[in-house]
Amino acid sequence: GTIYVLNGPNLNLLGKRQPEIYGHETMADVEAACLSQAESYGLAVRFLQSNAEHQLIDWIHEAREDAVAVIINPGAYTHTSIAILDALNTFEGPVMEVHISNVHKREEFRRHSYVSLRADGVIAGCGTQGYLLAIDRVAKLVSATN
Ligand code: DQA
Repeated sequence: GTIYVLNGPNLNLLGKRQPEIYGHETMADVEAACLSQAESYGLAVRFLQSNAEHQLIDWIHEAREDAVAVIINPGAYTHTSIAILDALNTFEGPVMEVHISNVHKREEFRRHSYVSLRADGVIAGCGTQGYLLAIDRVAKLVSATN
């Protein structure tokens, strides 16, 4: 099975963008770590990033046919996108929401997530390790239902 790991706007700048908040690892580092973590469970990863809401929605639609689970860090679309929530509601497998930073420790507007209305679990404030924790969780959920 394949896990889709989807990343939203500005995450292409991970490692360069506000490193005091988001750390020094790059998306390429996170991708490599996700691939090897998933591989340890016999799972594959399709790791994707886009700054465009429509692209994230199109990938969620592809996940409907192609993925056993979706892990998503929607970036700022977390707090704004009913369209991404609606897309995730068309996906039947486990959905995990990841935030690198602790969104509850920051501005008030980061505390509300549309995506959390669909997510089976939310990981925030664990840095990029959050992606690996989400893979652990997905592996458990996928093996329990299969
Ligand atoms: C983020 C938190 C969001 O509030 C922010 O807009 C991001 C990144 C995180 O990973 O901590 O772009 O999702």
